[in-house]
Amino acid sequence: MDLKGKVALVTGGASGYGKEYCKELFKHGCKVSICDINTDAGEDLLHQLSKTAKDRVIFCPCDVTDYPQFEEAFQTTIQKLGGVDIVINSASVMNDRLWELEVDVNLNGVIRGLLLAFRFLGRDRGGPGGVVVNTGSSCSTHPFVSLPVFTATKHAVAALTRSYGDQYHVNLTGVRVVALCPSPTEAALSGDPRKRILSGEYEQAWQKDISSTSAIKAENLGKALIEIIQKAPSGSSWLVESSTPPKEIVLFS
Ligand SMILES: NC(=O)c1ccc[n+]([C@@H]2O[C@H](COP(=O)([O-])OP(=O)(O)OC[C@H]3O[C@@H](n4cnc5c(N)ncnc54)[C@H](O)[C@@H]3O)[C@@H](O)[C@H]2O)c1
Repeated sequence: MDLKGKVALVTGGASGYGKEYCKELFKHGCKVSICDINTDAGEDLLHQLSKTAKDRVIFCPCDVTDYPQFEEAFQTTIQKLGGVDIVINSASVMNDRLWELEVDVNLNGVIRGLLLAFRFLGRDRGGPGGVVVNTGSSCSTHPFVSLPVFTATKHAVAALTRSYGDQYHVNLTGVRVVALCPSPTEAALSGDPRKRILSGEYEQAWQKDISSTSAIKAENLGKALIEIIQKAPSGSSWLVESSTPPKEIVLFS
């Protein structure tokens, strides 16, 4: 897939991994729609990227838990950038204390993003086809024992990708569905774990989880994203750790 001129809509695009994805896609010539609930960070990134090419980037305030607002972000992107070819579902919450929100953002938000992608990109609905990249985690295969709900959402993202990425759906929609599953960043592993875990009793499990996890630098993800968009077969999920190339995750037979 030649990325030049393609339109990418990135949820959670204002900070963290999503921001790196926006920068990398922009660098490869894509038009980028930064979609995020964090308006200040979104406007900052818009300002930063606009310095290079003002007509290739927009910011859409978007809460992925709010279907009508998410739908509006697709419509605004189509209207202002001329279409949508690539959807990156990166909005996320890693906090089991807010487990209902965590499920609503990490799983339901990805489902909303997929359904909207099928609606606006699907060839069966008159769209151009395209690709959706869901963000899983290293927790999509190896559980974080201290974060059971986060782990469940990320396992679910890999399963959703596998099912919606099946050739049956690709034949219907022309939309390839893949998942990028990164290990945590330094930032995610630092700070007070008690703000993320459901019980203080899980602190020992948290220490064990992070001792067996190698942090990734967000900027290393950009390269992996481009590789996955261009080459990954639909339905596949890819683990990205530190600076090694993406490794395909084999879920179940
Ligand atoms: N950072 C990690 O350690 C880690 C590890 C594995 C996987 N991941 C996954 O990578 C993705 C990005 O993680 P990150 O570290 O960049 O997180 P982050 O917290 O730095 O960024 C998440 C972004 O999502 C946005 N967001 C949150 N709720 C939203 C909502 N309801 N609607 C729209 N936007 C919303 C935030 O404003 C923020 O810009 C997530 O799917 C995350 O689960 C992260």
